[in-house]
Amino acid sequence: MNRKFISITALLFMMPFYAQADAVSELEANYQTQGAGPFSSVSGEAMWNKTFIDAKTGKKRNCATCHTIDLTKKGKHARTGKAIEPMAPSVNLKRLTRTKKIKKWFVRNCKWTLGRECSAQEKGDFLAFIKNR
Ligand code: HEC
Repeated sequence: MNRKFISITALLFMMPFYAQADAVSELEANYQTQGAGPFSSVSGEAMWNKTFIDAKTGKKRNCATCHTIDLTKKGKHARTGKAIEPMAPSVNLKRLTRTKKIKKWFVRNCKWTLGRECSAQEKGDFLAFIKNR
């Protein structure tokens, strides 16, 4: 094995970690321009497990309904029953790597769970909580 091969391999191996840092810090910077921050993992976790009542059905909902309380575990979609891969980047390297995907699901999941879009502060807190799991 030559040096070049080793450094390319190392680079490829590190890529998912850089991608996560990039997507998350890009979003955090964006939320900060909207006046949010500093972000709190503790608040993110509290919000993750906070229960909201759906105005139409009267049913209880929270983020853990689909993603579970333990982010290293597989989740299950509340409506379709489909398996959801773990949210924790420590066990699922694909998590929090794409800003587009994170944005899209924040919109959908906040609307479904909270009945409204999340604020920049809430999204930053969620990321602070999820990124270190
Ligand atoms: C009704 C089920 C459901 C609920 C409730 C739910 N989610 Fe999700 N979430 C999904 C699905 C489905 C995906 C996309 C599939 C996947 O990534 O595995 C997803 C993806 C995400 C992603 C993208 C992660 C990535 O891969 O980068 C984030 C962030 C997220 N959810 C956050 C939340 C937050 C925060 C809440 C609570 C406000 C929440 N979700 C509640 C079903 C749900």
